[in-house]
Amino acid sequence: MSEGKPVTRRSMLMYIGIAMNAVVGLAVAVPVVGYLLGPIKRKGAYHRWITLGPISNFPAGQTRLAEFVNPFKTPQDGETANTPCWVRHIGGGKFQVFAINCAHLNCPVRWFPQSELFMCPCHGGVYYADGSRASGPPPRGLFEYKYKVIDNELHIDAGQMPTLANEAKLVNITPCGGGDTPCQG
Ligand code: FES
Repeated sequence: MSEGKPVTRRSMLMYIGIAMNAVVGLAVAVPVVGYLLGPIKRKGAYHRWITLGPISNFPAGQTRLAEFVNPFKTPQDGETANTPCWVRHIGGGKFQVFAINCAHLNCPVRWFPQSELFMCPCHGGVYYADGSRASGPPPRGLFEYKYKVIDNELHIDAGQMPTLANEAKLVNITPCGGGDTPCQG
């Protein structure tokens, strides 16, 4: 009976090195592959229509704060699953539902009915009532949720926060009359 090749210190270190490299390679590859396959996996996912309540909660001509629970919340989310948004009832069954986050660096914007402006407390970003950019650092208008009215209830596509990466409305900034002041819309 022949004996196997003796394991030398050198070969032992080589096997350990290969095993460690394999572990590190796996640790790097898993998130990279997950990132690359993410868009395929997410197609159609993270979309769920939820109700913000009866449309009578949102009188015509007014903009009101509403809140919903993220339909994809996890137990770790806690209070952060409660998501506020601004609902503008234009009239005639037409609405705009804005993400509360500023399009600059995501601070929550506030609605000021007296001036009919949304204002951001962080860096002075200002938006008109229709969500388009008025002034300040935001590069675009507020992001909007898709909405529909079913049985007199206002529903929004709430699974995913609207951003440029999905279906957000991009408001172009074009200088008015050749000046530096951006036009509305
Ligand atoms: S986060 Fe709103 S202006 Fe910067």
